[in-house]
Amino acid sequence: MKLLHSVTGMRAARAAVAGELGFVPTMGALHAGHIKLIERAKQECGTCAASIFVNPTQFNDKADFARYPRTMATDVKALAGAGCDIAFAPDANEMYGDGFATAIDVGPVAQPLEGAMRPGHFTGVATVVCKLLNIVQPTRAYFGQKDAQQLVVIRRLVQDLNLPVEIVAVPTVRESDGLAMSSRNAHLSPDDRRAAPVLHRALTTAEDAYANGEHDARKLRVMMTEILAAEDRATVEYVSVADPLTLAELETIGEAGALASMAVRFGTTRLIDNAVLGG
Ligand code: PAJ
Repeated sequence: MKLLHSVTGMRAARAAVAGELGFVPTMGALHAGHIKLIERAKQECGTCAASIFVNPTQFNDKADFARYPRTMATDVKALAGAGCDIAFAPDANEMYGDGFATAIDVGPVAQPLEGAMRPGHFTGVATVVCKLLNIVQPTRAYFGQKDAQQLVVIRRLVQDLNLPVEIVAVPTVRESDGLAMSSRNAHLSPDDRRAAPVLHRALTTAEDAYANGEHDARKLRVMMTEILAAEDRATVEYVSVADPLTLAELETIGEAGALASMAVRFGTTRLIDNAVLGG
C-alpha cells in the first residue's frame, strides 16, 4: 500500500490507476465499520484509496476535536490488511493552507438533527469531502449508513455541484449486542457501554412496529423515546422520524418511507444511530 501525505503525491497515485478507483474518506481510529467500506470499495472497483484526516472544521466543539482518537500507525496497518491500495493522510496545513476561505453550505438538509445540535458541522463535512473528492477523483465513494444525515448531505453536494462520482451507502456494522460501531464507543464507561445498546433496541422496536403497520410517525417517536427514557444513564438529544430525502419530520409515513434516527448522550459521549423504515 502506498502511504501519501501530499496532495501532489495523491494526484500522481490517482493518475497511475488505469481502471476504476473506489474511495473511503475517514478520520482514522478505524474499526470494523470502516473496514467494511474498504472491502466494498476494493471488491467493486478493483483499486481502493482511503483518506485519514481528522478534519478540524467539522468539530464545533474544540474538546471533542482534541480528544478524538488518533491511531495512525494501527490504522495504516488495518488499511493495508483490508486490501487498500492507497492511503492519503494529509496534515491540516496541507488541506487548509494560508488564506483558505471557501465553505460549502448544502442548505436545508444540513439544518435539522445533527446540524441543529452541531452548528457548522455539515459545512465542515461538505467542504472537506468536496476537497477530498477533487483530490482523489474516485469512480465511487463509499459512506456508512451509520451517519445517515451525512449521506443525505453528500448526495446533495454531489448532485448540486455535478461532482463526477457515484456515492455508495454501506449498511451499519454493529457489535454483537446491536451497538453501532463508532470510534466514540471507546469513551464509554463500562456501565455506559452496557447501557448503550438501548439505541438499537429503540430502533428495532420502531422497525417492528412499522413492519406491523404502524405508519403514524408521532407514535413511533413516542415509542422510541419511552424506551430510551427507561434507561437512566441515557440523556436523549433528539428522536426523529423524518422524510429520507428532505429530513423534514413526518406525521405519517408514506410511500417514500422514513429515516428513524436519534442522538443520545451517555456522560460526555454522544452516540447516534438510525434505521431506514420502508421506502
Ligand atoms: P468517520 O467517522 O471516520 O467515518 C468514516 C466513514 O465510516 C463514514 O462514511 C461513516 O459513516 C462510516 N462508518 C462509521 N461507523 C460505521 C459503522 N458502524 N458501520 C458502517 N460504516 C461506518 O464520517 C467521517 O469520518 C467524516 O465526517 C468524513 C466523511 C471522513 C469527513 O471528514
